[in-house]
Amino acid sequence: MVRSPFFAIPKHLLKIVKETVDAITIYFDTKQQAFRYLPGQYLNIKCLINGEQVIRSYSLSSKPSDQFPSVTVKRVVGGKMSNYLVDHATYISIWDIEAPFGNFVLEKQIAEHSPIVLLTGGSGISPLFSMLKSMEGNAKIPLLIYSNKSPEETIFWDELETLQADGKLNSHYSFTSDAFVSSKINHVAGRFSLIMLRSIIRKQIAILEEAHYYICGPAGLMDLYQQALLGLNIPQRQIHTEYFGPVQEENPVIESDGISKDIIVNHYEDHYIQDEMQTYECTSLVEVKAGQSLLDAMQEHHIKVRSSCKNGTCGVCWAVKKDGEVRMVNNHALTEQDVSEGIILLCQSYPVDREVTINLS
Ligand SMILES: Cc1cc2nc3c(=O)[nH]c(=O)nc-3n(C[C@H](O)[C@H](O)[C@H](O)COP(=O)(O)OP(=O)(O)OC[C@H]3O[C@@H](n4cnc5c(N)ncnc54)[C@H](O)[C@@H]3O)c2cc1C
Ligand code: FES
Repeated sequence: MVRSPFFAIPKHLLKIVKETVDAITIYFDTKQQAFRYLPGQYLNIKCLINGEQVIRSYSLSSKPSDQFPSVTVKRVVGGKMSNYLVDHATYISIWDIEAPFGNFVLEKQIAEHSPIVLLTGGSGISPLFSMLKSMEGNAKIPLLIYSNKSPEETIFWDELETLQADGKLNSHYSFTSDAFVSSKINHVAGRFSLIMLRSIIRKQIAILEEAHYYICGPAGLMDLYQQALLGLNIPQRQIHTEYFGPVQEENPVIESDGISKDIIVNHYEDHYIQDEMQTYECTSLVEVKAGQSLLDAMQEHHIKVRSSCKNGTCGVCWAVKKDGEVRMVNNHALTEQDVSEGIILLCQSYPVDREVTINLS
């Protein structure tokens, strides 16, 4: 019934590589099945943890032409999925994954013709590492600005040092551990400051407005990087950001005519018949109250629909709009092409007319 634009692969575990004391890279084997994605995109992993179904997003740290796609996961203190994966990934042979998602991507045209500046910290390196590797061989050498506690806690440290030694990368690090001492010119002991960041970027990039800037990392550091760039009068359209945590949006104004709308939802339902699960295609009429999202309305009608972030970041709640018009408020997960093909995020979509038909996967 529903065309799925997202691959329900890769599934098989190939290997786990320990990157630092609290981060691992998980490599998947797609068993020769094609899996296309762009540098910077992410996938959603679903795991059953202590009886609870948990879905989280992880950026692909591999480059699209790599034989085996990979994600790099860093522990978050008290976090359900990150700790589960770092401790148990090795025991999961078949993975429940959907991909690719995200519009934080390095476009080929930009990578080939513009100077590229990557600004990051901690696990934020994952999507940027994919971008970096996909730029190998380009005439312009990317500038990487990367903050961590120490070199030992820096994900991909050895690979980045090799790229630097081979003249394929221009890197600048800050190490915030008190114990860190270095005489290297591209090492800062302590946190980056606005002045420092602006000075590094001004020295390395000849024409600031020509470069594209990609930022991903802890929220506070991302804000600092953005402030540094705005202080250099970099146009906002040249600055690309990916938040790993909840995105602070201005509260969207949901225009509503104050009238509930009935919409049609095509979906699947599982039923057990003599202990055997059967899946049926169903069509339901769902009342969406004024100002209510499609996701909330469907959940109120007990329709099985997946969700995770509820702020337009993860893409888990995607569905296909067949008829009618909906307004999507925030979208950090779908590409322009996805949207042009009628894909919407249910948690961010509100019906505009009464003709709406939605197909769930
Ligand atoms: C588009 C996207 C791409 C991502 N890519 C990666 C990646 O490549 N590698 C990676 O390690 N993570 C990545 N993340 C973050 C990842 O999806 C999870 O949020 C993270 O692993 C924490 O999940 P958890 O279940 O362990 O924590 P939860 O149980 O969800 O949260 C536990 C606590 O930690 C806080 N928290 C949640 N996430 C973070 C965070 N990222 N930093 C600090 N505090 C947090 C929560 O507010 C909560 O208080 C990405 C997130 C998004 C949206
Ligand atoms: S639940 Fe994450 S985008 Fe809708």
